[in-house]
Parts: sequence; structure tokens; C-alpha cells
Amino acid sequence: MLVDGVAHRTIWLSDDGESVEIIDQTKLPHEFEIVRLSTVEDAAHAIRTMQVRGAPLIGASAGYGVALAMRVDSSDAGLDNACKTLIATRPTAVNLRWALDEMQALLQPLPAGDRRDAAYRRAAEICDEDVGINEGIGSHGVELIRAAAEGKGGGPVNILTHCNAGWLATVDWGTATAPIYRAHDAGIPVHVWVDETRPRNQGASLTAWELGHHGVPHTVIVDNVGGHLMQHGQVDLCITGTDRTTGAGDVCNKIGTYLKALAAHDNNVPFYIGLPSPTIDWTLGDGVAEIPIEERDPKEVSEMTGRTADGRIETVEITPQGSAVANYAFDVTPARLVTGLITERGIAAASRDGLLGLFPERG
Ligand code: MRU
Repeated sequence: MLVDGVAHRTIWLSDDGESVEIIDQTKLPHEFEIVRLSTVEDAAHAIRTMQVRGAPLIGASAGYGVALAMRVDSSDAGLDNACKTLIATRPTAVNLRWALDEMQALLQPLPAGDRRDAAYRRAAEICDEDVGINEGIGSHGVELIRAAAEGKGGGPVNILTHCNAGWLATVDWGTATAPIYRAHDAGIPVHVWVDETRPRNQGASLTAWELGHHGVPHTVIVDNVGGHLMQHGQVDLCITGTDRTTGAGDVCNKIGTYLKALAAHDNNVPFYIGLPSPTIDWTLGDGVAEIPIEERDPKEVSEMTGRTADGRIETVEITPQGSAVANYAFDVTPARLVTGLITERGIAAASRDGLLGLFPERG
């Protein structure tokens, strides 16, 4: 998508043909900084510290992480170690495991000497596939927005989203945002309610930044506002992303998504998920019981970072010293609260039958 008129992806191969470049998302929205990854440890660090984040981009970064590892050691041990290092970075987004499985399935049978080039090729393909998948989500999801606009006599359609499931969370286009960008580009009037998404503020820092750069009208709200807006007819539909969706349609996404889905259900507001197929975990049935929920550093809750009036980036404490702090990063929205799953193949009911209708090869 465009940043100051220049098209960008979130991850790409450097001019040297070996290292990889990313946008450092920990610096946004105040600075647009590009970071070079040269080793598998660099890639693991980028995922762990959330320089790259968002389920599809975590997967794409892991693919390139394996390629970086194959530069220096393409033995079986080198491949195993790279996958072990990368899988340990973040537990919830299943795209990480998916991408590593893809890389291992391709590379394991090859002679060590062939693995380096094959790894770079597959990592690039994973990136391109992600862009194609998101374009598919966009083309199906835009019809929901078009219908909502027609139902309102032309719009604007108010869409609430949580966290960042935008192009910054993917290689390009985003999942939840792909239908929104498509609608905006097609001249359908849209306005996005952007949940700030404490504690890391991916909504306020990232979604607002990327919507602004694309010219999409939006308003940042604190996380507790959505229910009030829904009660007052200010939300036409919700679209969020997902980090892992079970084969039965339970959706794990950024903490707070479940509460939005409850409020949407209570107010008859449609609640949709942008769901790329690599984010489906076909091995799981009950999302609440089975999906591992990442718990992160309590400092993400007890501190806040921002820019001062004179341009300095400062971190301040916001809780009393000595108070216990918990930091659960994701929650699970049961399938019964989800109106539909917008995939690259079409929109499915949030159920095993619904998903199998679009992905019969998984039956
Ligand atoms: O902790 P993050 O920033 O990686 O969490 C991101 C989300 O929860 C997104 O909504 C999800 O990954 C979908 S991204 C297309």
C-alpha cells in the first residue's frame, strides 16, 4: 500500500539478494524506519519484539528466517535449529507454524546444497501468496460493504475494527482492511472506528496510520466505546482479523475481540472476520480450551510510550508500583458470535460445515 505516495510491502528481499528488509512497526506512527535482517536470529528477534507482527506477516517473516538460516548452515541440524528458534518466538498466531511446516516439507527432502535457493524461492512465494489471498478476501468482503451502503441509501458505512489486521499485519492489503480498501477505492463511502487496542495500541498506532496514508476516513476510539456506539446505531458492521481460527470456526484474535463480538451480538451488528486459509488450524475443535494464549511482559500494561510535544519518545509508568499486572494478548470468540468468515474463496458460516464447504480438501 502507499506510504507518502510510494508503494510498499511490509517485507522484501534487499538489493544484495540475501538479507531481508522490514518496516520496524515498533517505531510507528512516529517514525518510518526500515530494518535489515541478516540472520535467523535477526528474524526471530523481529518477531519476538514485534518489529513485525500480525499473523500473516509473522508467517512470512518466519519463511525468510529459514532462508537466512540456510545461507550459513543448510544441514539437517541447521534446518532443525532454525525452525526451533523461530517457533519459540510467539505462540498464538498459527501462521508461524504453518510457514515453518511449509519450509520444512519443501527443504527436508532436498540435498543440503539445494536448500538455500529453494528456501528463498518459497519464502518469496509465501509473500506473494499472502498478497493474493488478501486480494481474494477484499473482493468477497467488499460486497458486504456495498450491500450495507445500498441498505443505507448510499452510506457512509461505519465499520468497527480491532487491533491491526491491516496491510502492516500482512505482506500487503491486510485481511480485515482488504474489503475496506477495496470499498474506498471503488468510491463506496466508508468510515472506520479504530479501537486503540491496549496495551500495545496497534489500532491507534498502526491501523490509524495506514488508513490515514490511504485516505480512508477513520476515528480512533478507546477500547470500551464500541458497545456504546453499537447501541446508538453508529456501527453497521464489525470486521476484525484472526491469529488462529479452529476448523469449527472459533476465532482467536487480539485481546478484547470477544467483548466486541458480545456487544455486536447484543445489538444485531454483523460481526465478520477476515480469515486467510493459512490461519485456519484444522487440528483444533474447541478454541477456548485449546488455543495457547500468549502472555506478554506486564510492562506493556503498566507503562505507556508516546511522543512529547517537543518530539521526544518517552515511556511513563501508569500503575502504582507494587500492583500486580497481567497481560493476556489474545482471546477467543466462539463461533456462535461470528456472522461469517471472509476467506479468499468466499464467505463461510463460522462452523466446520461452513469452512469445509469452501475447503472440501480438508474433509
Ligand atoms: O499481537 P499482534 O499485533 O501480532 O496481533 C495481531 C492481531 O491480533 C491481528 O488482528 C491478527 O494477527 C490478524 S492480522 C491480519
